[in-house]
Amino acid sequence: MSLLEALRDSKQKRLDELFTFLRFPSVSAQSKHAADIRKCADWLRGRLSGMGLKCQIMETAGHPVVYAEKIVDLNKPTVLIYGHYDVQPPEPFELWRSGPFSPTLENGSIVARGSTDDKGQIYAHIAAVETHLTTTGTLPLNVKLMIEGEEEISSANLPGFIEKHRDLLKADIVVVSDGSQYAPGQPSVTHGLRGLVFIEIKVTGPNRDVHSGSFGGIINNPLNALCKIVAGLKDADNRVTVEGFYNDVLPTTDFEKRMWAKLPTDDRKFAGELGVPELVGESGFSTLERIWRRPTLDLNGITGGYQGEGAKTIIPSWATCKITMRLVPNQYPKKIMKAASAKIEALSPKGVTVEVFEHDGVPAVETPTDGPWLEAAGRALKTGFGVDPVFMKEGGSIPVVQVFKEKLGLDTLLIGFGQKDDGAHSPNERFRCEDFENGCRTATALLSELGAVKR
Ligand code: BES
Ligand code: MN
Ligand code: MN
Repeated sequence: MSLLEALRDSKQKRLDELFTFLRFPSVSAQSKHAADIRKCADWLRGRLSGMGLKCQIMETAGHPVVYAEKIVDLNKPTVLIYGHYDVQPPEPFELWRSGPFSPTLENGSIVARGSTDDKGQIYAHIAAVETHLTTTGTLPLNVKLMIEGEEEISSANLPGFIEKHRDLLKADIVVVSDGSQYAPGQPSVTHGLRGLVFIEIKVTGPNRDVHSGSFGGIINNPLNALCKIVAGLKDADNRVTVEGFYNDVLPTTDFEKRMWAKLPTDDRKFAGELGVPELVGESGFSTLERIWRRPTLDLNGITGGYQGEGAKTIIPSWATCKITMRLVPNQYPKKIMKAASAKIEALSPKGVTVEVFEHDGVPAVETPTDGPWLEAAGRALKTGFGVDPVFMKEGGSIPVVQVFKEKLGLDTLLIGFGQKDDGAHSPNERFRCEDFENGCRTATALLSELGAVKR
């Protein structure tokens, strides 16, 4: 039986198993789900050992890493496949048509939290390894699989983990499927990801909520103050006002200009899909540049005061918000973090206390645009999707990619199987069955292609 025939035969089994994987509420951000994370890791371990890999759960200071390998021949290349089994919080629950952790099939898509980000995509690689093993009894190259549980909370423990296990993780190339194709039917190789800085602001006013009539007009309102600060972080042209924010930003390269010119964009259609009247961004840049080449700043959430039913006339005691800044190559997270804190301080009005909590920073990364590994990935995508891939970038971040480069000297092939309208991080997240199938085929072909690369 050929590999592709074997995949056709295993279709229902693969779907059933992915559903099992999706039923674990492995939400890394919420401590109440710590036990679910552990159960999910355990399930993965059982699954990977069951198919003949040497597999172990490896502890970190946070959620564990599931590591598995099969070394078939030291003269052959070694691929390190990375993915994450943790997922984003599913809230708001009421917007899900069926439960976030009760996967369903809907119009040819698998709907569940984690379906596209990233359980469905990493599962495609697991299925690929298994397909080789059941069909040929072996693998065309050495395979190492590293599936972590903290990607959605910045992978803070991974740099240390990778440093500590440098020998174990030795490989020739890393493969990550944790993103999207350019469009349905148009597979892509992603040649870079934006970085990120995450901060929180807390503004404190009176030591309790107080009557807005009795005290309105004599004290500063922390919620008003926070809104003022946030409003001051961007100007009328949608440029970030943080001092020096754009100083290190490099212009779009010629390669990028050439590659992206081939990519069709339709701003009106894009706006329509998002339900917004029009796209809005930094003046002077195209939509693709705005997502892939320009840094930006956004509120993720803002909290304070009374939001229950009816009126409650108070001046709230405090207000908080979460902000992320997306970074591009040559920007330094620490530097941006410091500059943002200084700007927030400068924008802070008197009469309230403003605290800035500096969290994680991840630099942007660039990944190969040529070479034998990349060419192998291109052929595998062609086999899987029937179409040659295009080059694109992604606006999101995958923190570990930079760590692989820095600590192990390894390049990463970023080949996403999802779509940008899959609803990653949104309610009713989905993964098209067709993309899952094509992804499984690509991942299967990729092992053969990478195995044939001459080092
Ligand atoms: N799979 C995404 C990264 C991604 C986003 C790829 C968009 C392609 C397009 C990943 O799971 C993710 O969400 N990363 C976080 C990282 C953060 C928590 C450090 C992100 O980008 O917000
Ligand atoms: Mn992801
Ligand atoms: Mn994600």
